[in-house]
Amino acid sequence: MGKIKKGQRIGILTAGGDCPGLNAAIRGVGKTAIVKYDMKLIGISDGFTGMIHKEYRELTEHDLSGILTLGGTILGTSREKPFKSSGKGKNEISKPKLISEHYEQMGLDCLVCIGGNGTLKTAHLLAQEGLNVVGIPKTIDNDVWGTDITFGFDSAVNIATEAIDRLHSTANSHKRIMIIEVMGHNAGWIALYSGIAGGGDVILIPEIEYSDEKVAEYLIHRASENKPYSIVVVAEGIRMAVKDSCSAAQALSRKIRELTGLDTRETVLGYVQRGGTPSPMDRVLATRYGAAAANMIADRDYGKMVALRNDKIESVPLSEPAGKLKLVQKDDFMVKQAQDMGTSFGI
Ligand code: F6P
Repeated sequence: MGKIKKGQRIGILTAGGDCPGLNAAIRGVGKTAIVKYDMKLIGISDGFTGMIHKEYRELTEHDLSGILTLGGTILGTSREKPFKSSGKGKNEISKPKLISEHYEQMGLDCLVCIGGNGTLKTAHLLAQEGLNVVGIPKTIDNDVWGTDITFGFDSAVNIATEAIDRLHSTANSHKRIMIIEVMGHNAGWIALYSGIAGGGDVILIPEIEYSDEKVAEYLIHRASENKPYSIVVVAEGIRMAVKDSCSAAQALSRKIRELTGLDTRETVLGYVQRGGTPSPMDRVLATRYGAAAANMIADRDYGKMVALRNDKIESVPLSEPAGKLKLVQKDDFMVKQAQDMGTSFGI
């Protein structure tokens, strides 16, 4: 198919926590931009840090070859928040000003920002400063407002579910309560989905206030019915009365042992949920997002984030997700269905 010569120079960066699918998204933007539109792709290192220090390189089709299945990000990432005041000296140029200047000096026509809530908020603020920006929503937490799902989430749910599956056999062998803590920051999406996929008996999420006593009562009831073991899936962000400096899983494990006397162990799954090759679903979603972003740039449709709504790729103004979180609703149909099947949410 003939190239539609657009000739724009697109900067692309990945920022915030990494996740599987970032390289698939970079590839989706890049191959569409280069093959369909004859654009130039400029890869910026380590998120907004690379814009502040002008660390970048051109990405060719060759650079994009073989990265679809790679975990992490070939560009690197950081949690740099340029608009957060760093107490700069009065003569120092602000970080946002540096970014705008470097954007011009690099000859960019647009900046693609792939990230979660913080990144998309920075992208929105840069758009208000006059930069042409397009956002792509990523995070394992799936807590970006304005899109049904972020890439990274499906891979994390796969990893967490496989871990839960493995805990069933050891819990059964030892007749134990097994607690597994999954990520998600302040949202409970990973815990909800992996808890249901992995057959969790108890699912605790930040959005539903639970009581230790209710959890204990439920576990004792299961034991009294000769259920040999129970699986408890907790989101790292659950609000706990007493946590000290330990993890949610450790604090909960101590409380359950204290209240029930049952043999209890805990696993904090941690960063494995962020690593490794993306699931096929995440590869597809990241590719769809990337290609859509390139098409938006060709149409000079800036200041927006690509989004998935009812399985259709749309674009929403960057003002929409900025500063908001998409959290599990107490009356979410999946919460209701799980409760109808006897799963406890500790209430
Ligand atoms: O936002 C993704 C995430 O993995 C959260 O689930 C988690 O709470 C956080 O990042 C961990 O942050 P860091 O990578 O800075 O330790």
